[in-house]
Amino acid sequence: MRHDGRWWTEAVVYQVHVRSFADSDGDGVGDLAGVRSRLGYLELLGVDAIALSAVDPSPGLDQGYDVTDPREVDPLLGTLDDLDGLIADAHAHGLRVIVDVVPNHTSDQHEWFRAAVSSAPGSPERARYHFHPGRGERGERPPNNWQSVSGGPAWTRCTVTDEDGTRRPDEWYLHLFGPGQPDLNWENPEVWAELEKTLRFWCDRGVDGLRIDVAHGMAKAAGLPDDRRQPGWTPVSDALVDPRFDQDAVHDVHRMIRAVLDHYPDRMAVGEVGPVRDDARWACYVRRDELHLAVHPALREAAFDAAQVRTAVDRTLDAATSVGAPAVWTLANHDLVRPATRYGGEERDGAPGPARARAMALVALALPGAAFVYQGDELGLPDATPPDATPPDATPPEATPPDARRDPAREQSEHADRGRDGARVPLPWEGGAPGYGFTTGTPWLPVPEEYGALTAADQLEDPDSTLSLFRYALELRRGHPAFHGDQVEWFGAPAGCLAFRRTGSTLVCALNAGDRAVPLPPGDVLLTSGPLTECGELPPDTAAWLA
Ligand code: GLC
Repeated sequence: MRHDGRWWTEAVVYQVHVRSFADSDGDGVGDLAGVRSRLGYLELLGVDAIALSAVDPSPGLDQGYDVTDPREVDPLLGTLDDLDGLIADAHAHGLRVIVDVVPNHTSDQHEWFRAAVSSAPGSPERARYHFHPGRGERGERPPNNWQSVSGGPAWTRCTVTDEDGTRRPDEWYLHLFGPGQPDLNWENPEVWAELEKTLRFWCDRGVDGLRIDVAHGMAKAAGLPDDRRQPGWTPVSDALVDPRFDQDAVHDVHRMIRAVLDHYPDRMAVGEVGPVRDDARWACYVRRDELHLAVHPALREAAFDAAQVRTAVDRTLDAATSVGAPAVWTLANHDLVRPATRYGGEERDGAPGPARARAMALVALALPGAAFVYQGDELGLPDATPPDATPPDATPPEATPPDARRDPAREQSEHADRGRDGARVPLPWEGGAPGYGFTTGTPWLPVPEEYGALTAADQLEDPDSTLSLFRYALELRRGHPAFHGDQVEWFGAPAGCLAFRRTGSTLVCALNAGDRAVPLPPGDVLLTSGPLTECGELPPDTAAWLA
């Protein structure tokens, strides 16, 4: 473990989706004791930190992102003692620990929300959320036209039961995500005090960092005006803004978060601000007195295409550098289609997705800044949800049949969204179906048979496996003197390829996203994501590190 303060600037952070990582008690759901039992694996892999997806108590409508108590652990995952033990053990393994904080919304089962629905309009209980009367004569239309992120209106109407037992419709409440995730009102000082308490709680418990969920949320446009980007509005300008997210006032929240963290040595906050696509606005989140790190969406949104990857790298670095922040590189998380599937493209000697995902991993890990690796990507797991594009009469490789899917995003979007279960299927550790070493019981999402050929145990033994590639890469990244320099210089490269060097260093990364083998740039080959050709050229769908 590095002890030089700002440990996050070059850290490799492994995101653990706790429910799908390792199950210690056989109930089919991963838990904190499971994570604790696999820390040796993470140390062997060579990451610097783990980031745990939401662990707070939750009805589980959104995999823990619907929180009932932000300062507790969900009994499904363990106890606060388990978390303390995990933090202590992780530190003993040289790993830092980041936990998720969800300030934008709570669960509808949170005691605040339950009090709000049973209180009168205009009450202090309701003032912690966004309760408003509906429009129309009888309040039958939502207060404005906002849509929720997963599709469908962002408002749900409450009902009240009168003394004589009759139910009648009441005010509406705002939820930018599912109806079980009411948005907090960040104009209410109680809401601020509550987050401050939560931040201190986790820092006092010894976590090294906090991931701020929906960090571009919290503040809403004043007066909750209609969203003029929705159908039915005549655009009044080209730059129509989203009144739901990325409002200037959100930066006051981040300044508060930073001020709290500054009281604790070596703690960091990383924001999920992925959806903010304007680079100048994105950069505001990592100004000196705001978050330490933020995830930029460009690299993970880039196709496997040299020009797109190069633009994504430049945009991310320029945005971060403009405010003196380190960049964060990430290809995946628990909300996205896994890279081995996402980069699939057209068939060429078998599906190219896994090879491309390995190549992109070398690109991401060569870049200056921090890198986040999502669990299972080091095993090259494909997404376990079949694409919705599968024709209904074809027999799809249906690993996660629709009735086994759990992500409500699919239902909320009336199936327009495939849901995020495909990236959340439990990890295959060893052995066979149904548990693959993840559980002795029945995994909460079925593990597809194809994962059986990708177990961690098998891959540890195989020097050519994706897992071995990650281990070599992380070892080099940590120990090789060429890994320094906080900018990149691009080299001329053949069509469809890219090559960059880290400034002031000899490290070169070359990516072939074209369709024929190309000569390597000069230098000694440190690592390649797949075999070179017989004459030592870099084949398509492959990346190399040289120094
Ligand atoms: C973030 C999380 C996602 C969750 C959403 C609402 O985007 O990554 O999983 O559904 O926030 O909390």
